[in-house]
Amino acid sequence: MSLQVSRRNGSQGMRWRRVVGWLALAAMLVTGLGLMLIEWRWKRRFDAAYPAIAASHDPAVVARGEYLVYGAASCAYCHVPREDWERLDKGERLPLTGHYLFPLPFGDLYSPNLTPDPVTGIGARSDAELARVLRYGVRADGRAAFPLMEIRLSDEDLTAVVSYLRLQAPVPHAVPEHELTWFGKALMAFAIAPGSLSKAPPERSPAGATVERGAYLANDVSSCVSCHTDRGPDGALVGPPFGGGQRLDVAADSAKVFVAPNLTPDAATSPVGQWSEDTFVARFRMGPQIPGTPMPWGAFARLTDEDVRAIYRYLRSLPPTRNPTGPPVQTKAGTPAVDCSPHIVRGTFSGPVRPSPS
Ligand code: HEC
Ligand code: HEC
Repeated sequence: MSLQVSRRNGSQGMRWRRVVGWLALAAMLVTGLGLMLIEWRWKRRFDAAYPAIAASHDPAVVARGEYLVYGAASCAYCHVPREDWERLDKGERLPLTGHYLFPLPFGDLYSPNLTPDPVTGIGARSDAELARVLRYGVRADGRAAFPLMEIRLSDEDLTAVVSYLRLQAPVPHAVPEHELTWFGKALMAFAIAPGSLSKAPPERSPAGATVERGAYLANDVSSCVSCHTDRGPDGALVGPPFGGGQRLDVAADSAKVFVAPNLTPDAATSPVGQWSEDTFVARFRMGPQIPGTPMPWGAFARLTDEDVRAIYRYLRSLPPTRNPTGPPVQTKAGTPAVDCSPHIVRGTFSGPVRPSPS
């Protein structure tokens, strides 16, 4: 009796071992195929229309481009190294040589040189290619741009930005290629696809200190929404818009995180609920107050009064969300810190970004 039982157990054990063996082999095959598929797909190309944008030499258009690049759209803050933010804050018009390093969990990304150098910069790109990457996230080579630029400019503003970039002095400066991990490549292969825009960008930008212009600035130009809304573990925006709570890594001190506050008009938990319009404007004139903050305060200190008022009026028009987010700098203390981006990311995947060490 006992002999029979043990024999039965023995053959069952062998069967199990065989099953586990087959499973392990299958897993290896699937992994191998998966890696091949990723390698084959991560540089896949996309089609997107070329916006009908042509650079202009009209001084008013170029001046508007400069206002967007160094101010409202804070392009300059991503297209110079992080160490140079203080110089930008002081008003220096540093050339946009790129080389901002975004050390993300899925690889090291670099912003490209935007000066018109034909080899290392954008000198060889057409106006339409520049406009396409800014509007649809499709690069000149057809690959998806890693979605860090969360910008949806009107035709008018897109023209202004491209016009301004064209007139810069070329600065030869080679920037390294992105170095993606397998996870980063998998994201590029399967998750990151430049989507169609949910709504067509306007031809002309809304004007005046209006709620409408504030909505355009806060959502589509200055990317306030992309930092002041909570993100899920995959980087997608999940919180109530402008409800705050997104955690952004501080590269200088890996034990701490920045937490973006609530910007809905809740009187108990949001500065926008507590501050008058004049206080809000005064705060924007002050520039950064906390060293290492990922918010490009220096760029926004250049906004016109009218634009800051427009943003305030829009934020005050939102439904209030009660969301106490605590102090702006916190310890990680075991809480998973979603590593975040300045303006991260639009559409399908909104990736996290961390400022490089300063
Ligand atoms: C949050 C950071 C960030 C902001 C803000 C930002 N960029 Fe970029 N930009 C990047 C990164 C990173 C890339 C590289 C994307 C890729 O190729 O994966 C890039 C790519 C580009 C390219 C493509 C360059 C080429 O070689 O073809 C252009 C043009 C560009 N940015 C212009 C702008 C302009 C104009 C603005 C402001 C309206 C802006 N960027 C704002 C990070 C940023
Ligand atoms: C790159 C991410 C990022 C972007 C973009 C961003 N913010 Fe912030 N913001 C933060 C973080 C983090 C803090 C907390 C640290 C600090 O005060 O600098 C903050 C703080 C604030 C505060 C509170 C300041 C104080 O002194 O208490 C206000 C108000 C604010 N942001 C408004 C805005 C508006 C309006 C925009 C768009 C024009 C914007 N932010 C864009 C990340 C961002």
